[in-house]
Amino acid sequence: MDRKEEAVSSLVLVGYATRYGSTQEVAEVVAVTLREGGLDVDIQPIRNMRTLAGYNAVVLGAPLFMFHWHKDALRLLSQQRAALTQRPVAIFALGPTHVPFDAEEWQASRSQLDKELAKFPWLTPVAIEMFGGKYDPEKLRFPIDLLAGKVPASDLRDWAAIRTWAANLKPLLAG
Ligand SMILES: Cc1cc2nc3c(=O)[nH]c(=O)nc-3n(C[C@H](O)[C@H](O)[C@H](O)COP(=O)(O)O)c2cc1C
Repeated sequence: MDRKEEAVSSLVLVGYATRYGSTQEVAEVVAVTLREGGLDVDIQPIRNMRTLAGYNAVVLGAPLFMFHWHKDALRLLSQQRAALTQRPVAIFALGPTHVPFDAEEWQASRSQLDKELAKFPWLTPVAIEMFGGKYDPEKLRFPIDLLAGKVPASDLRDWAAIRTWAANLKPLLAG
C-alpha cells in the first residue's frame, strides 16, 4: 500500500432515530464496537443527517412503533435513495418487548420491518437485524399511557448480541 492509499480511511456513519432513547443507546454501542474494530465512525440522529457525502458506509437504526419503522428512518430512505444505493447500508430495528420471550412477537416485528423496507425495493442492505426493545410505561405520554394498560417494564436489548452483530459488520461495510 502506498502512502496515498494509507491516507484514505473508511468513514462510517451510524444514524439512529429514537423516541424514548433506547435505540440511541444501541446505536452508541454499535458505533463504539465498530471503532474498536478499527473503523472511523460518526454517529448522529437521522433527522440531523443532511448529506452522506464523505461517508463510505452507513448503519441505520430505528424502532418500530405501531407497526411502522420510525418516520425519520423512512424519510431518510425516501430522500437519500441515490446516496444509499452507492454505499453499503446495514439496518437494525428495535421492537419486541414482551417478557417472557414470545417467538410470535419477534416474527411479527420482523415482518413489520420487512414490510416497511419492501417499500424501498432499490434498497439492498448488507445486513438487517431485529433487536429486542425497551419498554418503560413511566415514559409514555398521554393518550398512549392509557392504552398501554398494566404491561410491565422490560428491557430486551441483548448487549452481547448487539456487539457481535456490530463486530461482524466490518467486512460488509467495506463493500
Ligand atoms: C406505543 C408503542 C408502540 C409500539 N409499537 C411497536 C410495534 O408496532 N412493533 C414493535 O415491534 N415494537 C413496538 N414497540 C416497541 C418499541 O419499538 C420499543 O419500545 C423500542 O425500544 C422503543 O425505542 P426508543 O426507546 O428508541 O424510542 C412499541 C412501543 C410503544 C411504547
